[in-house]
Amino acid sequence: MTTLSHIDNIASITAGKFKPDKSPPYINRLRYHSSLPKLTLWSFLFLAFIFLFFFFSPPSSPPPTPSAATRHTVRNISWGGAVWERRVRSSARVRSRAGLSVLVTGAAGFVGSHVSIALKRRGDGVLGLDNFNSYYDTGLKMSRKVLLDRVGVFVVDGDINDADLLRKLFDVVPFTHVMHLAAQAGVRYAMQNPSSYIRSNVAGFVNLLEVCKSVNPQPSIVWASSSSVYGLNSKVPFSEKDRTDRPASLYAATKKAGEAIAHTYNHIHGLSLTGLRFFTVYGPWGRPDMAYFFFTRDILKGKQITIFEGPDHTTVARDFTYIDDIVRGCLSALDTAKKSTGSGGKKKGAAQFRIFNLGNTSPIPVGKLVSILEKLLKVKAKKKVLPLPSNGDVQFTHANISLARKELGYKPSIDLETGLKKFVKWYLTYYDPKKKNAW
Ligand SMILES: NC(=O)c1ccc[n+]([C@@H]2O[C@H](COP(=O)([O-])OP(=O)(O)OC[C@H]3O[C@@H](n4cnc5c(N)ncnc54)[C@H](O)[C@@H]3O)[C@@H](O)[C@H]2O)c1
Ligand SMILES: *[C@@H]1O[C@H](CO)[C@@H](O)[C@H](O)[C@H]1NC(C)=O
Ligand SMILES: *[C@@H]1O[C@H](CO)[C@@H](O)[C@H](O)[C@H]1NC(C)=O
Repeated sequence: MTTLSHIDNIASITAGKFKPDKSPPYINRLRYHSSLPKLTLWSFLFLAFIFLFFFFSPPSSPPPTPSAATRHTVRNISWGGAVWERRVRSSARVRSRAGLSVLVTGAAGFVGSHVSIALKRRGDGVLGLDNFNSYYDTGLKMSRKVLLDRVGVFVVDGDINDADLLRKLFDVVPFTHVMHLAAQAGVRYAMQNPSSYIRSNVAGFVNLLEVCKSVNPQPSIVWASSSSVYGLNSKVPFSEKDRTDRPASLYAATKKAGEAIAHTYNHIHGLSLTGLRFFTVYGPWGRPDMAYFFFTRDILKGKQITIFEGPDHTTVARDFTYIDDIVRGCLSALDTAKKSTGSGGKKKGAAQFRIFNLGNTSPIPVGKLVSILEKLLKVKAKKKVLPLPSNGDVQFTHANISLARKELGYKPSIDLETGLKKFVKWYLTYYDPKKKNAW
């Protein structure tokens, strides 16, 4: 069985096909019965009342108003109720002395699932939130949820844009920390579905910060930015002080916007905020939209893979960072986060604001990635080399991690070959129909 530390996930409603906003069914029903005979009207009202009471309202609190539900939610209201609240509380129960109580957004995602399990294992209280969107295979997100269930982490199916839901969660559990990993990821998909990036990475983040600033006590927040904010920066290695004002994709621009927005909430409302710029995270339970993942799939299928190169046949390289190293960086960021200083939405004093690179400091050319995969899979890849299109991907990334090393004790320890071996082992188990139960 694959160890639980090898979890990864991604899910969001925002990413995939948008489902049209739906008013709760009782709104429509209350309209057209006025023409019915009185008796029918009253019995209908009675039934509608019962229906509404038992199916839509959380018994212990009033249901969200229809207007709020229409404005903020894409999905059906699937939260609330005494049973639901008990699950939320039990998942978030702190089991170790001085443990944290953490709301993890994007918990059914790649990084979110690994982080949630690591936190739970050391005794912290963890509650997940994810909208299970169909940007990539929701089956993978559901499988990660199964793993999380097994260790006692409940993942609420909901959107970070749903302010009523977020307020409710803080009502039930006074979270000390928020690990915010929910986002629309992927660089090239922004050409197809730009609004999903704005919705999750900008609007959703603001919604989350709005709720965090108003609750009492305010939580400390650690969130995922991205190495993509360095954009066209060509000074290597990338350090936190380098310019980040030339994003090369809408994804990067929304991540950069997130950093600016976070700074505002820190400045005005005293929220403690730590941004982590991840560099190409990979590993078991990873994202199917990333090259190491679909190269593996295509090489095994005997399908041709496309390798991009820069101008004059220069290589494209990535600072691949293994998931376990990233998880350690995330936990350390949570552990070193100072308390927020605001209350009632007002700042009482200066609060902590930090930005860290979390990379591996060892950029690997994509050609090398492919040759490692060929060796591990024992299959020769059918390669096609094309010039790197200018649709968002930068030519190389390379992290300077001295700041994270100093402040977080961050020290990546897994090289690409070792990490890919673990990924391939997971991949072959997970996608082998005969071993479907092995994870
Ligand atoms: N994996 C990487 O290489 C990498 C690199 C840089 C930054 N990041 C960032 O790290 C974070 C985690 O990335 P990941 O690789 O785990 O991606 P992921 O897509 O696997 O996980 C994100 C999760 O968030 C959920 N989500 C998206 N929008 C949501 C919304 N509006 N409400 C609720 N849930 C929503 C998705 O369903 C998904 O499960 C993201 O912020 C991403 O931008 C990742
Ligand atoms: C919402 O609920 C209705 C009726 O219960 C159902 O038909 C519909 O498929 C649901 N939609 C989603 C997104 O779950
Ligand atoms: C890395 O960043 C630190 C500051 O965090 C800086 O002092 C150092 O010179 C940088 N190293 C390189 C090689 O650029």
